[in-house]
Amino acid sequence: MVSFRIPLILIQILILLPISLASTSVTTSVCKSTPYPDVCLDSLKLSVSININGIILQSLKVAISEALKLSTLMSNADGFNIIEMHKGTIQDCNELHQITLASLDKSLTRLAATSSSKTSKLADVNAFLAAAVTNKDTCLEGLESASGPSKPLVVGTIIAAYKHVSNCLSLLSDSPPSGSRDVSDKGMAWLSKKDGYDEGDDDDDNMLTVAADGSGNFTTITEAINFAPNNSVDRVIIYIKQGLYEENVEIPSYKPNIVLLGDGRDATIISGNRSVVDGWTTFRSATVAVSGEGFLARDIGFYNFAGPEKHQAVALRINADLAAVYRCTISGYQDTLYVHSFRQFYRECDIYGTIDYIFGNAAVVFQGCNIISRMPMPGQFTVISAQSRDSPYEQTGISFQNCSIVAAEDLQNFNYGHKLSWTAMEAILSDRIHRVLH
Ligand SMILES: *[C@@H]1O[C@H](CO)[C@@H](O)[C@H](O)[C@H]1NC(C)=O
Ligand SMILES: *[C@@H]1O[C@H](CO)[C@@H](O)[C@H](O)[C@H]1NC(C)=O
Ligand SMILES: *[C@@H]1O[C@H](CO)[C@@H](O)[C@H](O)[C@H]1NC(C)=O
Ligand SMILES: *[C@@H]1O[C@H](CO)[C@@H](O)[C@H](O)[C@H]1NC(C)=O
Repeated sequence: MVSFRIPLILIQILILLPISLASTSVTTSVCKSTPYPDVCLDSLKLSVSININGIILQSLKVAISEALKLSTLMSNADGFNIIEMHKGTIQDCNELHQITLASLDKSLTRLAATSSSKTSKLADVNAFLAAAVTNKDTCLEGLESASGPSKPLVVGTIIAAYKHVSNCLSLLSDSPPSGSRDVSDKGMAWLSKKDGYDEGDDDDDNMLTVAADGSGNFTTITEAINFAPNNSVDRVIIYIKQGLYEENVEIPSYKPNIVLLGDGRDATIISGNRSVVDGWTTFRSATVAVSGEGFLARDIGFYNFAGPEKHQAVALRINADLAAVYRCTISGYQDTLYVHSFRQFYRECDIYGTIDYIFGNAAVVFQGCNIISRMPMPGQFTVISAQSRDSPYEQTGISFQNCSIVAAEDLQNFNYGHKLSWTAMEAILSDRIHRVLH
């Protein structure tokens, strides 16, 4: 893997610099390494900091204040005078920006509590800032097809505000890498047994039950999500009895720690049919869309039935940190599984699609999964993964560990297998974790 790190020597020199040296020369050399040096210099004008942590903190504070100005613009309906071509464009931008603000605040808290740059908290901050940059990209993608008098102003303001975030991310990446990757055959370190990753506390008294046949607390999943407490620090377990649930489910960022338990991937089915061709943004097309941190799902089938001719049509989208999905089926055609951002883990899942069907910019591991290619439309190639990282400072990537790539029956009969994506294949064949970078 190509490394774009700024030489560590530079940081060491900075730390050893005598205090008597004007801090301007320090910030100048630090800023030179960022994607937007002018913006960096400007944000550090008043900084007296001479260590890299202080410089990152200062630059983060400016990023937050710029991001807050942008929220004011976005929440002002007149200022946001934009005609959307795809349903959800503005809602996507607003929601993603709220997540960015929360990520920046959390980054500031982590960094302020860190005296040395060597702690594993930096890995969290890198994940938060990479997600923020991804949020900007997704918002701008949606705005591409939009029109209206405010569009140039809004797009310009978004780009300007997020330059500060990109700079923070690059400054942070100068710091030493933080520990080893916490992936083992037992799963991610942040999953514990009581989290339902293994057979767990299904008989929790506070469990909410959803049953299509009326035998539970609710008949739709959306009602249960609405009922679930906001900002819960405890897991909120929602048991979804077997049945077909035709609904678009959204788990917003203020509903963290939601656990969805089904009766089996072929028994509890959540289905939708939104697509880009039918006028939605790719982001908003998801049948189940998760922004709430700490999301867990087990024994559920997530489907988007729009069909290959409807192009991008997401079955499951996760832009939530520390999310895990176990023994689930995620089934669609183009763009089935949107691993949008943050850190995610999938174990023993079946993922079906035709093209780009595992895509996004999360740091994600697939373990023991079946990746099943369906027959694409005439003229389309079979492409399994599309990683969309756009800056070398992000620690994101799609990794496959002990997974199988197979062709669905329709594709087998067509003898189409030789067009499977070889980059992804390579990662499968190795028993070590690879990042698939495009
Ligand atoms: C859900 O249903 C169970 C069983 O009927 C009941 O004990 C529980 O109080 C209900 N929970 C809510 C929130 O209504
Ligand atoms: C949760 O927060 C949302 C958005 O701020 C609000 O609309 C909703 O009423 C809140 N729900 C509860 C149960 O407090
Ligand atoms: C999408 O699904 C809904 C709900 O199941 C259904 O009413 C609608 O007709 C479907 N639309 C298309 C285009 O298939
Ligand atoms: C790899 O997958 C196979 C079958 O899918 C399973 O039997 C085996 O235990 C897995 N190995 C690891 C290390 O997870």
